[in-house]
Amino acid sequence: MSKQFQFKLVLLGESAVGKSSLVLRFVKDQFDDYRESTIGAAFLTQTVTLDDQTIVKFEIWDTAGQERYKSLAPMYYRNANCAVVVYDITQASSLDKARTWIRELQRQADPSIVIALCGNKTDLTARRQITQEEAKKYADEEGLMWFETSAKTGEGVSEVFTAIAKKLPLSAPSSRTSAARGTAAARQGVDLNRQTTTQGSNEACNC
Ligand code: GTP
Ligand code: MG
Repeated sequence: MSKQFQFKLVLLGESAVGKSSLVLRFVKDQFDDYRESTIGAAFLTQTVTLDDQTIVKFEIWDTAGQERYKSLAPMYYRNANCAVVVYDITQASSLDKARTWIRELQRQADPSIVIALCGNKTDLTARRQITQEEAKKYADEEGLMWFETSAKTGEGVSEVFTAIAKKLPLSAPSSRTSAARGTAAARQGVDLNRQTTTQGSNEACNC
């Protein structure tokens, strides 16, 4: 019998770096040249199959990067198992913004959160402002996963989510007390094969 796990994933980053486009590529394998900026946040789900036995379901919160929505972010990264912090390789300022988000996650998110730094828009190589070396060095120093993607061509997108799924702890917590739901379960994800664990879980009801 296959095992299914559910994790909360949040996307953060400056406006227009391509967070929604990455999610659209991952969830629907589509791309829009003219996407509206996100208002508040969007919620989507998608599964990743790691092998015949293991299915990881991501509950994805795609946050709005515009400054006016900044105060909403903690609501979305609270209890998140993983975060994808996105920058645009053609905008140097977007890596500074990504660093700010990463510092905030390191201070305020769950200490066991898996953080991936993702440089998007690799199809725009001629306009690159952030080198792979610079971003990778920073990611290594901070112990982050690091990727480059193009939501436009699809390059590297599914790899981000698959690598995160592999990094998450795929062992179900042994205890499901209410305390466990708020702490251990948040870190370890929810085993969807265990009926008692899905109902009333901390997932998807925070926002
Ligand atoms: P907010 O919702 O405002 O936070 O922005 P966002 O980070 O969700 O950006 P969004 O996905 O809306 O993309 C912004 C613009 O960049 C859109 O016009 C997209 O078509 C474009 N875009 C996104 N990803 C890529 C990419 O990989 N390559 C190129 N060339 N354009 C992209
Ligand atoms: Mg968006």
